[in-house]
Amino acid sequence: MNDKLIIFDTTLRDGEQSPGASMTQDEKIRIAKALERLRVDIIEAGFPAASAGDFAAVQAVARMIRHSTVCALARALDQDVDRAGEALKHAERARIHTFIATSPIHMERKLQMAPEQVIEYATRAVRRARQYTDDVEFSPEDAGRSEEDFLCRVLEAVIEAGASTLNIPDTVGYSMPGQFGRMVGRLMERVPNADKAVFSVHCHNDLGLAVANSLSAVLEGARQVECTINGLGERAGNAALEEIVMAVKTRKDMFPCHTEIDSREIVACSKLVSNITGFPVQPNKAIVGANAFAHEAGIHQDGVLKSRETYEIMRAEDVGWSANRMVLGKHSGRNAFRTRLQELGVEFASEAELNAVFARFKQLADKKHDIFDEDLQALLTEARVEAGDERVRLVALKVCSETGETPRASVTLKIEYEEITATAQGSGAVDASLKAIESIVHSQSNLQLYSVNNITSGTDSQGEVTVRLEKDGRIVNGQGADTDIVIASAKAYINAVNRLHLAGLRMHPQVHNL
Ligand code: KIV
Ligand code: ZN
Repeated sequence: MNDKLIIFDTTLRDGEQSPGASMTQDEKIRIAKALERLRVDIIEAGFPAASAGDFAAVQAVARMIRHSTVCALARALDQDVDRAGEALKHAERARIHTFIATSPIHMERKLQMAPEQVIEYATRAVRRARQYTDDVEFSPEDAGRSEEDFLCRVLEAVIEAGASTLNIPDTVGYSMPGQFGRMVGRLMERVPNADKAVFSVHCHNDLGLAVANSLSAVLEGARQVECTINGLGERAGNAALEEIVMAVKTRKDMFPCHTEIDSREIVACSKLVSNITGFPVQPNKAIVGANAFAHEAGIHQDGVLKSRETYEIMRAEDVGWSANRMVLGKHSGRNAFRTRLQELGVEFASEAELNAVFARFKQLADKKHDIFDEDLQALLTEARVEAGDERVRLVALKVCSETGETPRASVTLKIEYEEITATAQGSGAVDASLKAIESIVHSQSNLQLYSVNNITSGTDSQGEVTVRLEKDGRIVNGQGADTDIVIASAKAYINAVNRLHLAGLRMHPQVHNL
């Protein structure tokens, strides 16, 4: 028997809970479209009760996605469930995912509730969610540290109340593969009405075991895995979608199930998420890292040339590392440009927007010979950021860097209607530029991370810079791309400053008391 393994992607919800990974509505829509092209079964689009912006983003994704089910998260509270139901009103297929913690430590210290009360909240939330949709998922948060007898009682009660998916989260990434898998297997055996629900798992990666724990549970009968692109997620992240999917596909001999994911879309989706969130993918990351299919040692190359199976267990092209990718360049016209972006699922709000992005494309093509899909996505991210109501904009940047001299930068910014210029010295051109910007904007934030990646290969590649700023406990990432990395750095810093300014208060689903 070969069952379907349901792939539930939570990049837009748990992934967005990573510090600095918050996304705009437009960015969420672009990722949701990429997830739909990947054919994920369920897209968890967000937590509508978090803020008006989160509600609007879930609503926009629900209106736009037609094939995947769109899911919204809700604590086991009437008002959260109602917000989720409202946000999903226009979805073709809607799921409400409600949760409450069941481990002794969470019930006593976080919720300050007795176990019976937790069951009452859980069943009430499920019943209320059923008023909006037949597709209701329930998660006993911190199941990995919950008592099994109590879990059985909660799960039986929520199935009775109408939940059709039971998700078992290892919220703090504490479980070990064999132990977690066996626990899920036992729950499936012990809960009397377990046959009326699909068992799912949601594993965090604090000990680097999220994928192993998830797959262990699949071997014991779980038929939904919750995961994220590139393993993005709270703290050390969630199980990486690409690893789950390719493990099941590559080891058909081990798994009595299959997914309906179009694996050729994996790399494009990974790059898009990395570009939008500013979380680079490490080169040796399985499946989507730049080195995942690169063979360095002579002996490996020799083997692969004679017969690729000697050292390759998967084909690079099966996950979207295509050898003959379509490239655009200086001579590509508007039609080719529009068509390629359409193929990437990008829609323009108007001809004016298309023209503005096309003009940027032409500028880039003057500096860079081949324009790849990654360049187009970065271009679009920038164009949309700048078309938004950015408070601070870069007008001009001049740097002077010479061996033996202290580098200097002169920066002109436009803040609302006023242009201000400042100069600064620094240990390098980037340092001097960021100091000049800071002397104008006075963000008084702490720089937590500065990283540069080249979007494609070659010295004419665009450099993609991520800057992470922290202020009063709020963390934001800013991105900038340019063929000149000093300019990319300035853009990234300004982008982060703008985001700091905008970052309003959002409720975190797991830290607030009920
Ligand atoms: O990690 C977790 O427990 C969660 C729940 C909300 C499912 O993200
Ligand atoms: Zn989680």
